[in-house]
Amino acid sequence: MRWILLGPPGAGKGTQAALLTKKFNLPHIATGDLLRQAVREQTPLGLEAKSYIDKGELVPDNLVTNLVKDKLSNIDMEKGFILDGFPRNISQAESLDIFLDNNHKPIDAVIYLATEEQTIIQRLSGRRVCQSCEANFHIKNVPPKKEGICDYCGAKLIQRDDDKPQTIKNRIKIYNQKTKDLIEYYNKKNILKQVSGDLESDKVLALLQNFLKTGR
Ligand code: AP5
Repeated sequence: MRWILLGPPGAGKGTQAALLTKKFNLPHIATGDLLRQAVREQTPLGLEAKSYIDKGELVPDNLVTNLVKDKLSNIDMEKGFILDGFPRNISQAESLDIFLDNNHKPIDAVIYLATEEQTIIQRLSGRRVCQSCEANFHIKNVPPKKEGICDYCGAKLIQRDDDKPQTIKNRIKIYNQKTKDLIEYYNKKNILKQVSGDLESDKVLALLQNFLKTGR
């Protein structure tokens, strides 16, 4: 199972990737998480990426592509993986294709979580993340047991800086300008599977598991 999860901000890519990778014991490579980690650790990559993330812009392709290639080179690609948030434009997709073709491990499926704009805004504005373990919550949809506290590690929940209204708007704009082109790119390769990202999380997961089993 070598899957890409594709979709607008807030479509539920991270949520579904976490559920699938736990269930199937696979590596979850999420470029947003990796970049935020680099920002926290103030690595050279993090220092360069921060201004792009804060504005909701894409971090330069060479930085992100090298990061992903490095992660993929350190796992057993035969066993599978889930890419979440990468690729984000045609240039990243082409670089990924070349890398995976050279390793004879092509992508099996690209899951496109098609999601309405009103869902995106509701989800991102209510999202809260654990500042320690990065677990994801939502004030209404997935509330923590104790308000403001992570269920898993007890640390404080915070709002991501890029989940503020102005940045959400820009992230949606960038998605429409650059990332949406990937739907056609993967459709032409016959590996695109569209699922509604507006559904409840367990329904999306059930559809993905059914797709895995039946190919439909
Ligand atoms: P990234 O972290 O990847 O942000 P994103 O793509 O905008 O995606 P999100 O994490 O916001 O949403 P998601 O689809 O994962 O939804 P989630 O499951 O969290 O990237 C951040 C930034 O890093 C980018 O803007 C860019 O600057 C940079 N970057 C990253 N990758 C890059 C790349 N390849 N190239 C260049 N730059 C890159 O869910 C959202 C909320 O909804 C949560 O609260 C969740 O609990 C809730 N929820 C999820 N599913 C459901 C459901 N089915 N029903 C109800 N609630 C739900």
